[in-house]
Amino acid sequence: MKSTYNIDLSYDDNYAAGPDFSGDLPDLAALNSGLPPATFLGRAVNSAFGVPAGPLLNSAYIELYARLGFDLLTYKTVRTGYAPSHPFPNVRAVEASPGWYQTSGEKPVLYTRAALDESRPQPDLSITNSFGMPSKEPAVWMADVARAKASLQSGQTLVVSVVGTSRLGYTLEDLAQDFAQAASMAVQAGADAVEANLSCPNVRSGEGSLYQSPAAVGSVAKALSAALGKTPFLLKMGYLEDRRLVREVLEAAAGGGAAGLAAINTIPARVYTAPEQQALPGEGRLVSGICGAGIHEAGLAMAARLLEARREAGLTKDSFSLVGVGGVMTARDALQYLKLGADGVQSGTGAMWNPYLAVELKQLLKTAFPSQ
Ligand SMILES: Cc1cc2nc3c(=O)[nH]c(=O)nc-3n(C[C@H](O)[C@H](O)[C@H](O)COP(=O)(O)O)c2cc1C
Repeated sequence: MKSTYNIDLSYDDNYAAGPDFSGDLPDLAALNSGLPPATFLGRAVNSAFGVPAGPLLNSAYIELYARLGFDLLTYKTVRTGYAPSHPFPNVRAVEASPGWYQTSGEKPVLYTRAALDESRPQPDLSITNSFGMPSKEPAVWMADVARAKASLQSGQTLVVSVVGTSRLGYTLEDLAQDFAQAASMAVQAGADAVEANLSCPNVRSGEGSLYQSPAAVGSVAKALSAALGKTPFLLKMGYLEDRRLVREVLEAAAGGGAAGLAAINTIPARVYTAPEQQALPGEGRLVSGICGAGIHEAGLAMAARLLEARREAGLTKDSFSLVGVGGVMTARDALQYLKLGADGVQSGTGAMWNPYLAVELKQLLKTAFPSQ
């Protein structure tokens, strides 16, 4: 199947043209009837399944995926000021063999793969994506978030992803305040919940690696909590192997007032088209984030570590939510995260190349959990 984001066009062209989709839309009333009850961040939802920050560039994408039956819809990361996208290309298919990310020391090396045969499903697809977290001016994205919110069906939730912008001379506290300002704007514009991205590998400034520091996680959480009051917020984490660090980060997030964590973001690699030929042009773009099938195992492992850390910290699903992300390419993959205990699950790469993933998961949920 073809991606709804055309990887042969620039980010700006995809933003302007809207999603590339001409298929049939499901009958949502029929699709949602008979599903097991689900909640997300204290709200009743049709299902705890959706799309993480990224593939839904603006309200046109949010509206399409809402109509396709995805219920946890995340608006791609925005900032307190305009930021351009990294240059084209921004998405390329890569070869990622099992366990590729388990290296010590330098970042692993991956190679791009030949053009995709988009006439068939892509359950084994891994990609690299590198946008640098572009953002429209707040006035533009806020008006668009309001449109996105208005396009939602009942039982759906709009999460807006935000990031703080690190400016010259900024302390951690200044950066945390910038996160909080972006989050307040998102709520003012109509977000049901906010997600703060602490884990983008495609930026060279410090905001992409905050998730590795419990102190930084705590600072951002406290600033968001003070700014948002009752509106729930999640923190988006990257992949971590060290169980103790996972527990410290989770406790810092919960202690700072976060409603939960979403993990994982993409895993960084050095990406080449051929030996010594950098795949994505430009300084600082040798390393870019990998997602899709190649991070499925890592996403599940991280979800298991987070669930264990939550138990050890004496927290429960009612007090602290965990959203599983990473390599959900099929309905069975999504069910695997839910069966593990994740409170929500989202598919990025999978949902781009298979817009019917929510339909397929809902059909599977009805078989796996038939209503009495
Ligand atoms: C096209 C694309 C753009 C992305 N942009 C963002 C972003 O702006 N903010 C963010 O937190 N994550 C971003 N991500 C990462 C996803 O939210 C997700 O963590 C990652 O892709 C792993 O999920 P997947 O394997 O289902 O794709 C992006 C992913 C893709 C595929």
